[in-house]
Amino acid sequence: MTANDPSSTPLQLTADGQLRHFLTLDGLDRALLTEILDTADSFIEVGERSIKKVPLLRGRTVVNLFFESSTRTRSTFELAAKRLSADVLNLDINTSATSKGESLSDTLLNLEAMASDMFVVRHSQSGAPHFIAESVTPGVAIINAGDGRHAHPTQAMLDMLTIRQHKGRFEGLKVAIVGDVLHSRVARSQIRALNELGAAEVRVIAPATLLPRDVESLGCTVEYDMKQGMKDLDVVIMLRLQKERMEGALLPSEREFYRLYGLNREKLALADPGCIVMHPGPINRGVEIESAVADGPQSVILNQVTNGIAIRMAVMSMAMGGQMADRNRKPAGRAEG
Ligand code: CP
Repeated sequence: MTANDPSSTPLQLTADGQLRHFLTLDGLDRALLTEILDTADSFIEVGERSIKKVPLLRGRTVVNLFFESSTRTRSTFELAAKRLSADVLNLDINTSATSKGESLSDTLLNLEAMASDMFVVRHSQSGAPHFIAESVTPGVAIINAGDGRHAHPTQAMLDMLTIRQHKGRFEGLKVAIVGDVLHSRVARSQIRALNELGAAEVRVIAPATLLPRDVESLGCTVEYDMKQGMKDLDVVIMLRLQKERMEGALLPSEREFYRLYGLNREKLALADPGCIVMHPGPINRGVEIESAVADGPQSVILNQVTNGIAIRMAVMSMAMGGQMADRNRKPAGRAEG
């Protein structure tokens, strides 16, 4: 499947390959991922101005629908929408009618009736944003802000932007993803992005209990011994232990996990001296990463957060452009105005 193949155009692309929704990196080719990175690059300068605004989404309404907790993703989506001059509604799920039993579909129908143009959705159920995108009014964009274990595509793209800033390329890079890959939507999206963009090797480092079955089929090699796995790395991405998603005892203890798989200065010294340290956050100091490493000179963890705004501005503006192109083509689409 290619972005320009009209016979298999995926839900998230228009017939001519523009972004309409952003649900997953699956099916998006290197040219489109590079276009997202280049568009984000152009927005970085906006964040450095005294007046951090451009009018690209003026008059549009963006609704943040977070059914799971979030600090970074929710805040940076809100800032991104505001910097694009959109009106932003943050629905507080805890005080919404969801607590009275209203279904996701009915919540969406009601918010669509308020002429919303874009929904940013985080949900614990894999596939929830895809389900919404299938039923939403033409002209409305759905952006996945993380669904279950499935995908976190904007996180992976902000990670790619950070890698490109620090390494200047993807070709030839050896990248490791360490820790709880089993429960990680971030890891799945990162592996997909790194392979599409041409990384030389994507290596996952974890105990067998924290790896999905057939993990190699995602496009990575596997290393169970972290000291072996750190050798020659250009980038190491640490993951949080997702205890809230764990069923049963997958670890002997946090202390043992940290001894074997926690990133400390000693293990980092085994990587290439220019190796950068990444983490999507939230970080758990002393569980998967030593404070001296998280705050150290090789850490780019806070650069990742900053880049989240530019990537989300890029994805939102591109999806709205795709929706406008679709709307102009479809006579049944919602009237513009
Ligand atoms: N990386 C990430 O998704 O963080 P939040 O859960 O704080 O949004």
